Amino acid sequence: MSSRRLAVAVTTALLLVVGAAACESGDSGGSGGSGKIALLLPESQTTRYEQHDRPLFEAKVKQLCPDCEIIYSNAQQDQSRQQQQAEAALNNGAQVLVLDPVDGAAAATIVSLAKSKNVPVISYDRLIQNAPVDYYISFDNERVGQLQGETLVNRLKELGKTSGDIVMINGSPTDNNAKLFNKGAHSALDTSGFKTVPTPDFFTPEWKPENAQKFMEGQIAQLGKDGFVGVYAANDGTAGGAISAMRAAGITPVPPTTGQDAELAAIQRIVGGDQYMTVYKAFKPEAEQAAEVAVALVRGEKPSTDRTVNNGAVDVPSFLLEPQAVTKDNIKQTVVADNLYTVEQICTSTYSAACQAAGLT
Ligand code: BGC
Repeated sequence: MSSRRLAVAVTTALLLVVGAAACESGDSGGSGGSGKIALLLPESQTTRYEQHDRPLFEAKVKQLCPDCEIIYSNAQQDQSRQQQQAEAALNNGAQVLVLDPVDGAAAATIVSLAKSKNVPVISYDRLIQNAPVDYYISFDNERVGQLQGETLVNRLKELGKTSGDIVMINGSPTDNNAKLFNKGAHSALDTSGFKTVPTPDFFTPEWKPENAQKFMEGQIAQLGKDGFVGVYAANDGTAGGAISAMRAAGITPVPPTTGQDAELAAIQRIVGGDQYMTVYKAFKPEAEQAAEVAVALVRGEKPSTDRTVNNGAVDVPSFLLEPQAVTKDNIKQTVVADNLYTVEQICTSTYSAACQAAGLT
């Protein structure tokens, strides 16, 4: 055999082996290298889900498994709707559920249903409680709250303040993350000399910006326009609601206010000075990690992790990413450097002067 023919023969044999291996791994999870993966997201008032999580997840699945099918649903903040969407996905043959629960406790029902059909469940971003969840992919959420609290306190000190009330606006009472953000924030605020109000803590129903706004209006009425030194808002949506309430009451400048998610509107408020900070959680590695685990599960593999988080029932194998605080000073080095937004997107005509001043050009 000539060396060229030998090379062709060897290459052909290799391709056959690789092909057979690919078919085998596909067969173990479903039909010949394909599979059905359900992505169930909780809402769309927060921009991350439709703008980042969903497209990033879909692109990664497509890259890793071109023949995989994604069943996508968004529950629009409605737990019973999410339950129905999960049932529909399972009836439709979903082999993995990637579930970001509206209600972390109620979602245990979805997990039992999936388990009865031998379908693994990935708890995406929010932890499902008291259920045999297979994986948890999220951020260090207590750290998110701690970054919010620390950055707020540092700013107040910079402004020469050492005491006073901080109005605390937490996330949804049914979201386990909201509890973790709250815990992290308290760890930074409770020893700072400032005091959070009201007691007991307020949690914003359904994370709705309008609910945060209404609550803030009440706080302004009760405490007075000068009755507080800062606002802890758990995410950018609730921060937006609180800032609207303060603006409407004629409070200028708005006292330092926190947020989370690096939403475009929040980055613009930070540039303009209405919001002090946000927390950037890189959506790409989170969504892509979920896609990788989902595709592996479809293929019958079990990715290993070195961390677990207990959810009340089991130690859930977990992947937890690091969040980052963003203020005017590091917008360029964080969300712009990561291509989340271009300077042009942030610096629309309304913000062009402020952008110039912030060095965003
Ligand atoms: C997420 C946040 C989001 C909030 C509201 C939380 O569970 O971690 O990124 O802002 O839900 O959807």
